[in-house]
Amino acid sequence: MGSHQEKPHALCIPAPAQGHINPMLKFAKILHSKGFLITFVNTEFNHQRLLRSRGPDALSGLPSFRFETIPDGLPLPQNLDATQEVSSLSKSVDETCLGPFKSLINKVNDSYSPVTCIVADMLMVFTLDAAREFNIPEILLWTSGAGSLLCYDQYPDLLETGLMPLKDSSFLTNGYLDTIYDCIPMMSGMRLKDVPPFIRMLYPGDEYMVHFLCSVLKRAKSASAIVFNTFHELEHDIMDTLSSKFPPCYGIGPLNLLENKIANESLASIKSNLWKEEPECVKWLDSKSPSSVIYVNFGSVTVMTSQQMVEFCWGLAKSNYPFLWIIRPDLVIGDTAVLPSDFLVDTKERGLLVSWCPQEQVLQHPSIGGFLTHSGWNSTIESISNGVPMLCWPFFADQQPNCWLSCNKWGVAMEIDSDVKCDEIRKLVIELMNGERGDAIRKNAIDWKNKAEEACAFPSGSSMVNLEKIIHLLQTSLP
Ligand code: UDX
Repeated sequence: MGSHQEKPHALCIPAPAQGHINPMLKFAKILHSKGFLITFVNTEFNHQRLLRSRGPDALSGLPSFRFETIPDGLPLPQNLDATQEVSSLSKSVDETCLGPFKSLINKVNDSYSPVTCIVADMLMVFTLDAAREFNIPEILLWTSGAGSLLCYDQYPDLLETGLMPLKDSSFLTNGYLDTIYDCIPMMSGMRLKDVPPFIRMLYPGDEYMVHFLCSVLKRAKSASAIVFNTFHELEHDIMDTLSSKFPPCYGIGPLNLLENKIANESLASIKSNLWKEEPECVKWLDSKSPSSVIYVNFGSVTVMTSQQMVEFCWGLAKSNYPFLWIIRPDLVIGDTAVLPSDFLVDTKERGLLVSWCPQEQVLQHPSIGGFLTHSGWNSTIESISNGVPMLCWPFFADQQPNCWLSCNKWGVAMEIDSDVKCDEIRKLVIELMNGERGDAIRKNAIDWKNKAEEACAFPSGSSMVNLEKIIHLLQTSLP
């Protein structure tokens, strides 16, 4: 304990999903490099998965960067490759984690060093009750872009008007969404299909997600600040709007760039992939010409039917471009992905299929010319910060607004129809890689990459300055 006691000690707790653990780990490493002791809290299930995918050394950390676990309240699944169902996991975490979290704080206070602040994913709002009880400051990390938070923030109004959930399909075209979104900076022109789709309550679990998200929005107001994995230049007008309703909002992203600039080398071996990476795909990229490969990855939650998979297969095959396609073991609904054998023969020379890759390294690789993505926020910001133009096929949650902003406001992407067809994929891949529109999008992507780098530049980049403000805020509790 001794020498640790003068240092600020942050308890960092991500929401228990890949797209949330990654940015929290980056933020925790950045705080560590600024002199914080870190206790990083995973769920027991994810801890098991990390140990399996990374090996026991991966989580041994340093004396000043430690890992702890709490249960997520669900029975431990047998299959360590399975993505947990989002609504039941959110419900279980919200209803059962506060007790174990408070016990953990007591344990860490007694056995290691007193916790001086909490850094929680915004979806883990139950932690605010603990912060109040222990009288320590808490900041929330919204791991997505500011645009998606602003969309969710319209949910209570959409429910109050009585127009949501949709009574019938005539509401799809009656334009009332325009009246809600047109008054919001940057959101004018959004269609119903661009709003996070839980609000349509089409699928089991959506109703709970709407209730949960409305409650998150309300409870988040008692945090000391909200930080975003975005940067001022990209979303300042949206963050200004949010700041009038929420605690002060700060963009400290792209966290992948800030981590590379600031985090200690000693933490480089600590990573957060829940699936085992296949790093040899980076070597395969070495053998390809600059900007020639289309990279395809749908993140950790998206699922598709086997028919949709077949459309993607033939679209990629017929485009004639080399491709690197990441096919997670649970990507196809109810099945292990079985790809058409003639597709495999046809593309043997120019297609590589793997189950999980080191995405940041892939996006930095000079042979990547485009990214076919589900528009998860991490993928979006990682792509923007590497100047890689995108084709977007959003699946759920924040991915619809991320796609809309990428295509319509930042000009770095083109959208694929949700009813995916192989001929559309073929045309869009060719257009992105070698068409006029693709060229314009690539130029915009490079402009945004430069702006992202400026935001993370020392000492006066906007994200660097915001980081210092957040550190100051987190240190105010020190004796
Ligand atoms: C989920 C939601 O879908 C997303 O919209 C939300 O913003 C965060 O939570 P996910 O679907 O996994 O995330 O997508 P994304 O946000 O893109 O995060 C995936 C992360 O895993 C990225 O950091 C990416 O670099 C990493 N990854 C993904 C890999 O390292 N290798 C892979 O093969 C796939």
